[in-house]
Amino acid sequence: MKIGIAADHGGYELKESLHTFLTSKGYEVQDFGAFELDSADDYPDFVIPLSKAIVSGEVERGIAVCGSGVGASVAANKIKGVRAALINDHFSAHQGVEDDNLNMLCLGGRVTGAMAAQELVTAFLGAEFTGEERHMRRLGKVKDVEDQN
Ligand code: RB5
Repeated sequence: MKIGIAADHGGYELKESLHTFLTSKGYEVQDFGAFELDSADDYPDFVIPLSKAIVSGEVERGIAVCGSGVGASVAANKIKGVRAALINDHFSAHQGVEDDNLNMLCLGGRVTGAMAAQELVTAFLGAEFTGEERHMRRLGKVKDVEDQN
């Protein structure tokens, strides 16, 4: 599975450690930056290209990190076809995929430690959308709104 990762300065350190972790687990990783720690950089500049790569199929899933994970999730969900959420617990990391077909995990580099992030990422990447009718129906309603706007 090819995974895209992105972070601003608030998530840079965690993104770098997740890059190493994902590579060690055999994932192909595409890094959308930041490529250096720059306290003046802005999360949309990295999260939006990652979001577009998910929609185009260039990467299968994404992991975006900013200081809190909030800005990353807000920005990512502006791109049609992205289903991003800020995740801080193990249950949501896999249930978000199973029920809601989450395709981008957002983390807070100033909130979640490296080991906890590895567990959340593992749960996220190990989960699959069930495709059950009730979930398809709900996602269809979300997509209708997306298509109208
Ligand atoms: C940057 O200082 C910080 O605002 C950003 O990383 C993120 O936390 C926004 O949600």
